[in-house]
Amino acid sequence: MEIKKIYLIGFMGSGKSTVGKELAKNLNQNFIDLDCYIEKKHHMKIKDIFSKLGENTFRKYETICLKEAQNYGVIATGGGIVERKENILVMKEGLIIFLDASFEEITKRLQGDTKRPLWKQSKERQVELYKRRKQLYMACSHWTINTTNCSISDVVNIITKKVMNNNN
Ligand code: S3P
Repeated sequence: MEIKKIYLIGFMGSGKSTVGKELAKNLNQNFIDLDCYIEKKHHMKIKDIFSKLGENTFRKYETICLKEAQNYGVIATGGGIVERKENILVMKEGLIIFLDASFEEITKRLQGDTKRPLWKQSKERQVELYKRRKQLYMACSHWTINTTNCSISDVVNIITKKVMNNNN
């Protein structure tokens, strides 16, 4: 089946990586997790790239890796992929799917997380980031899937059906 490249976007903890892996299986596509690719390529954990080299360098790595990942059918991006217009232009060539989840749900899912530097801040700043990002996700995505009360397999099934219908 010839389908458009799928980019999963959404806030940290929205399920992009887990959903992406299962979705790719369902659609018989290959899968890449951009954050994992960045870590492998640079032999550094994301949190170390942030603390040692800074967010700007991370964003540069992220854009380059996004462009290098063009041989994959399903791409799970990092929550900040929408911070650069250049990234959005690349993703617009494919199908951009926003995995939406409420702030409360995200908070539950990320409880005790130590891997995400941009989550390690005051609640006020988390909310601010969440709100600002949500606008960016909404503005560039082709589809929004509300995942708040859904299991991973619910989300995967919803997207699989939508992609199949879209292709008929
Ligand atoms: C980030 C999200 C992370 C990771 C990095 C920055 C962000 O990915 O790319 O920590 O700016 O929201 P996940 O969305 O997979 O947590």
